[in-house]
Amino acid sequence: MIPDKPPQDNVFHGSEELKKEAHVPSFDKYRELYMKSVDNPDEFWGDVAKDFFWKTKHTGQFLDYNFDVTKGEIYIKCMEGASTNICYNLLDRNVHEKKLADKVAFFWEGNEPGDELTVTYRELLQRVCQFANVLKAQGVKKGDRVSIYMPMVVELVVAMLACVRIGAVHSIVFAGFSAESLCERIVDSQCCLLITADGFYRGDKLINLKLLADEALQKCRDKGFPVGRCIMLKHLSKEPEGILGSQSPPAKRPCPDLQQEKQAGRVKKTRPVPKVPWNPEVDLCWDALLRGVSDECEPEWCDSEDPLFILYTSGSTGKPKGVLHTVSGYMLYTATTFKVVFDHQPDDVYWCTADIGWITGHSYITYGPLANGATSVLFEGLPTHPDVSRMWEIVDKYNVTKFYTAPTAIRLLMKFGNEPVQRYKRSSLKVLGTVGEPINPEAWQWYYNVVGEKRCPIVDTFWQTETGGHVLTPLPAATPMKPGSATLPFFGVVPAILNESGEELEGPSEGYLVFKQPWPGVMRTIYGSHERFESTYFKKFPGYYVTGDGCRRDKDGYFWVTGRIDDMLNVSGHLLSTAEVESALVEHEAVAEAAVVGRPHPVKGESLYCFVTLNDGVMYNSELEVELKKQGKIMRRLLRKIACDERELGDISTLADSTVVEQLFQNRCCTAV
Ligand code: WT7
Repeated sequence: MIPDKPPQDNVFHGSEELKKEAHVPSFDKYRELYMKSVDNPDEFWGDVAKDFFWKTKHTGQFLDYNFDVTKGEIYIKCMEGASTNICYNLLDRNVHEKKLADKVAFFWEGNEPGDELTVTYRELLQRVCQFANVLKAQGVKKGDRVSIYMPMVVELVVAMLACVRIGAVHSIVFAGFSAESLCERIVDSQCCLLITADGFYRGDKLINLKLLADEALQKCRDKGFPVGRCIMLKHLSKEPEGILGSQSPPAKRPCPDLQQEKQAGRVKKTRPVPKVPWNPEVDLCWDALLRGVSDECEPEWCDSEDPLFILYTSGSTGKPKGVLHTVSGYMLYTATTFKVVFDHQPDDVYWCTADIGWITGHSYITYGPLANGATSVLFEGLPTHPDVSRMWEIVDKYNVTKFYTAPTAIRLLMKFGNEPVQRYKRSSLKVLGTVGEPINPEAWQWYYNVVGEKRCPIVDTFWQTETGGHVLTPLPAATPMKPGSATLPFFGVVPAILNESGEELEGPSEGYLVFKQPWPGVMRTIYGSHERFESTYFKKFPGYYVTGDGCRRDKDGYFWVTGRIDDMLNVSGHLLSTAEVESALVEHEAVAEAAVVGRPHPVKGESLYCFVTLNDGVMYNSELEVELKKQGKIMRRLLRKIACDERELGDISTLADSTVVEQLFQNRCCTAV
C-alpha cells in the first residue's frame, strides 16, 4: 500500500536541518507509523489520546464503525463513553499543565497594517470563560446550536470556544456570505442565537455585517423561525453615548451610520463606520454583556460522540449540507495532523491564511494549533491590501516559520513577479503548505523557489470539509515531494482507486478516489439528514467513503487528485455546485434554461462557464446584463460565494469591486467568472 522505498526520480526532499528535529524524520519512520496506524488503529490513536485530558475513560472499542450500506446504517464512533471538553484541552491544559499561560496564542493582524493585538493562552482562556458565562446567562445549553457570523477577529475564536466550553454546537457562517445564505443555515440547524459584529473592512471596502445579519434574521422570521437573540461585537463602531454600557439600550437609539468618527480603538484612520441598526427586542451588545461577568467557567463534560460543530458545504443537488463533526475524534485528528504535517515545534510561528468560516480555518487556525499550544498569526485582511507584498511583510514581521495558503493565492501573487516577495525577508520559513485544489507545477515551483528559497518543503494537503483534517499529504521531512501530487495517505487513512464498476484498481491507475475505513476525524452525519449522508458518500460504492474526486496513482504509488467528478466546480479552492448556479440563473424571468460547466482558469483553477437560453422574444442586451447582475437574492448568494472563496484564499481585491461582477455576465450566452 505504501511503497517500500521512497521514489528516487524527479523528486524534491526536505532539508537536512528539518530532518534533525522532525517528528517523523524519514520515509521509513513514516512507513512504520503508517502501518501501525492501519494494522492497529486502536493502539495507535490510543497512544495519541494519552496526551489529552479525559474526565472519564471510553467504554468499548476505540474506533467502531460500519462503512457498508448493505450491512445497515453507516456509523463512525471514536472513544464512545469517554467524556472530555475540547476547550479544556485547548486552553486549560496548556495554561495549567503545559505551563504555556504566557505563550502567545494569536498575533492578530488587522486589515490595516499597524492594527495588531497579541493574545496569550491565559488571556484567551479568561475571555472564553467570560463569554461562556454570557452564553449561559442567555440560556444557551449543551446541544443548542449557535450561529456565528463574524470577521477574522480574536472574538470569533472566543465565541466558538465559548460554545465548545458549554457543550453548545457552533455553526459558523463565513462573513462573506449573504443574508440569504446565513438565514438558510440558521433555519437548517435551528440556531437559538446569532453572534455577529457591526462590520469590518476588506481592503478598502466596508462590509456592514450587522445589516446583513438583520436581513437574515428578518428572513428567518418570515420563514416562521424567529431567533430570539443577536449578540453584536463592536469591532469598528463607537457606540453612541448612553448606549454603551447599558444592558438594555433605549428603544430608539440614534443610528451611527454615515458618521465620520475617529475610532478610539483598533481602527486608527478616520473611516466611515458601519451602519448599525438596533432592535432592542433582539440585539445585545457584546461589551455590555461582559461587564462584571466572571472569567471562570467550569467546562461542560461532553461525550466523545456529542456534536462539536456544524459547517455547511455545497452539495451537488443545491441545498448546502451541514457537515457534523463530533468531539473526540476530531480533536485527536486535527491535533495530530497539525503536529505532524506542519512538523510543529514549540518555537514556531504558524500562519494559515484561510478564514475561520471554512473548514481549513476551523481545523488549522483554531483546533489543531491550539491543541498543540502553537503560536499563530490571525489575519483579518487581504493579500493585496495595501499592496501585493502584504503576506511577505507579515511573514517578516512575525518571523513566520510555517505558512499555509491556497494555490489560487499563489497563482495570483505569482503574477506580480518576484520583487514584492523579495522585498521582505523570509529566512524564518521552514515549511510551506497548500490546500483547496490541485497545485499546478508552475505555481508549485514558484512557491518552492521564490517564496521558500528552495529550502522549504511544500506539503500539498488534500482533504475536505467532510474529512475533518488532511487525508493525503506529504510529511515535510519524510516524504519526497512531486510537484502537483498530494503524495501518500496520512496515518489511519486507507485510500483506494475504483473503476466505474466499483472494482479496486491496483498499481498505476486512474478512477474514483475512495477511502476504505474511517479515521477519527471523519464527519459523522449531515445535520438533519442521515439519509443524505449515506446516499452522498456511501451508496455509489458500498463499503467505501466516496470523496467525489477523481485520482491517478503513479508507478511510485503516489496519488494525484485530478478534480471533481460530480457536478461540483472548484473555484478558487472552494466548491460550488453547478445546480445552484443554474437555479440562480433560471430564477430570472428572461432566462428559460441554463447549463453550467467548469472551464480551466489560470488563477482560480476553475471558472464558471454558463450557457443561457433566453425566453422567446427576449433580447440579450446590456440592460439585461445589468439586471442579471442585480438578480435577486439567490444570485447575490452566488456572487458572495464566489467572493468568499476569494477571500479565504487570500486575495481578493478583485471580487470586492465590481469588475468581476461585470465579467460575470460579459457575454451573450456564456459567463466567465
Ligand atoms: C475539495 C474539498 C479542505 C479544505 C479546503 C476545501 C479539493 C482540496 C486539495 C488538494 C487537490 C484538493 C477536492 C476536495 N481539494 N485540497 N490538495 N489537491 N484537490 O474544502 O470546500 O470541502 O473542498 O477540494 O476537490 O474534494 P472543501
